[in-house]
Amino acid sequence: MKRVLLALTLCAPVLALGEESPAPAAKDVFVQGDATAGASKAAVCYACHGPGGNGAINPQWPKLAGQHAAYLYEQLGKFKSGQRKNPVMLGQVAALQDQDMRDLAAYFAAQKPVPGVGSKDAVAVAEPLYRGGDVARGVLACAACHGPEGAGNAAAGFPRVSGQNAAYVANQLHAYATCGQNDFKNCDRGGDGKGQIMSAIAAKLTENEIQALASYVSGLQ
Ligand code: HEC
Ligand code: HEC
Repeated sequence: MKRVLLALTLCAPVLALGEESPAPAAKDVFVQGDATAGASKAAVCYACHGPGGNGAINPQWPKLAGQHAAYLYEQLGKFKSGQRKNPVMLGQVAALQDQDMRDLAAYFAAQKPVPGVGSKDAVAVAEPLYRGGDVARGVLACAACHGPEGAGNAAAGFPRVSGQNAAYVANQLHAYATCGQNDFKNCDRGGDGKGQIMSAIAAKLTENEIQALASYVSGLQ
């Protein structure tokens, strides 16, 4: 025990130092974006996504902080091409060049996400689904892709869901569900490649489960 304490004490200054002086931002390996260049382009986004992408100005709008760069870059592209339909974001991406989107993605990915708070009532319904899925209905466990703590998987392109605004998450699950129920046609979101994974899953969830899962993931950390 003493040895463990000693080891911790010895480590502490190193950890603290590491936090105060972060290494200069390297190019994000997934999108070849420059976070520093992204920072100077991101101010316009703060109006809705909050400073550093951590805002909860309107719970229907997502946090971007700490989201994986490859996922952010991909979604910006989907707004631009209309595969993901949202009039507000379409207006935002219209003027962005490909490199702007890479830099913005690298910038927001490098920001530390602020955790959210889920409702305790949601746990009974959401946790078994999140961790184990429902084999009988063919609902895959969310944790299989989004991770036990909701951190997602950068390399696989599975987004972080932990700490995300619950109202935004519920909106997305509704959009995916509608798409899945319509054979992936005329979708606001989820009609394409990776999106179909989510649409097939969300289409099998009840409204009660969607609300519970949205609250549950917002409290994951
Ligand atoms: C006027 C408000 C507004 C502004 C300004 C804005 N956004 Fe958004 N953004 C939204 C809304 C609303 C959504 C959710 C759309 C939906 O429900 O599909 C969104 C969604 C997103 C998403 C998808 C996140 C996810 O988890 O899938 C990304 C990425 C994004 N915005 C990036 C940006 C960037 C980068 C900027 C600045 C260049 C920006 N936004 C400026 C309102 C805004
Ligand atoms: C097989 C892998 C897989 C499983 C299982 C899975 N997801 Fe996803 N999820 C994805 C992928 C891939 C995306 C991005 C799709 C896209 O591009 O729209 C995504 C997107 C999402 C989003 C949108 C995130 C955002 O920021 O807009 C939410 C919310 C979400 N998933 C929740 C869930 C929940 C809740 C479950 C369990 C019921 C679940 N997912 C199960 C792969 C998965």
